[in-house]
Amino acid sequence: MDVFTAIKERRSCRAFLPGPVSEEAIEKLLQAAVWAPSPMNAQPWEFIVITNQEVKGKIHSEVEDRRKSLAEKSGWKWLERYQVDFILSSPAIIAVIGNPDKTGADRFLEGGGMGYQHACAAAIQNMLLTAHALGLGSLWFTLFDFEAMRAMLGIDPGKEPLALVCIGRPSGEPLQMARKDALERTRFIR
Ligand SMILES: Cc1cc2nc3c(=O)[nH]c(=O)nc-3n(C[C@H](O)[C@H](O)[C@H](O)COP(=O)(O)O)c2cc1C
Repeated sequence: MDVFTAIKERRSCRAFLPGPVSEEAIEKLLQAAVWAPSPMNAQPWEFIVITNQEVKGKIHSEVEDRRKSLAEKSGWKWLERYQVDFILSSPAIIAVIGNPDKTGADRFLEGGGMGYQHACAAAIQNMLLTAHALGLGSLWFTLFDFEAMRAMLGIDPGKEPLALVCIGRPSGEPLQMARKDALERTRFIR
């Protein structure tokens, strides 16, 4: 599959078929992730691959708590209806951990650096595109409490759990999310 097809066809997957994802496929995703660009090639990422059902259960209840409190706080109706059972049904979850110490010269800017977050985002997108090219569904998931996730996964205090990437064989058709035209969002300075 060429890169343009992968970019255009990939959609977020929130329903997975039972059955494991092969270790070979997971390794391909991780290899794709680390070829992302990063500030000064600092490679500020670490990954935790979660296939243990008990741990997925703990993550699921944390996410459910977070969803309920955010639904209350925001008043957003969709958050009341939003189902997070894919956390349980996704055969593999890859937690992406960012290291703020491994950011670039941007650390000396006012407010500190965000380069490590950008780099981890690029690594995540590499994983999503690779998953799609392998016929797997994926979801970039962030609806969790940092500290709760840090404690649950045993992450060092100085590092940040930035996202969970759910991976599995897709069940059914994903939602088809449209995009506005790129040129509507572009200004040229010539
Ligand atoms: C930084 C980031 C955080 C996201 N967090 C969530 C999330 O917590 N839950 C979720 O269901 N989708 C999440 N998504 C997926 C978006 O909802 C999805 O990409 C968007 O609706 C466009 O749909 P598509 O990916 O199918 O094109 C996230 C995406 C990004 C880039």
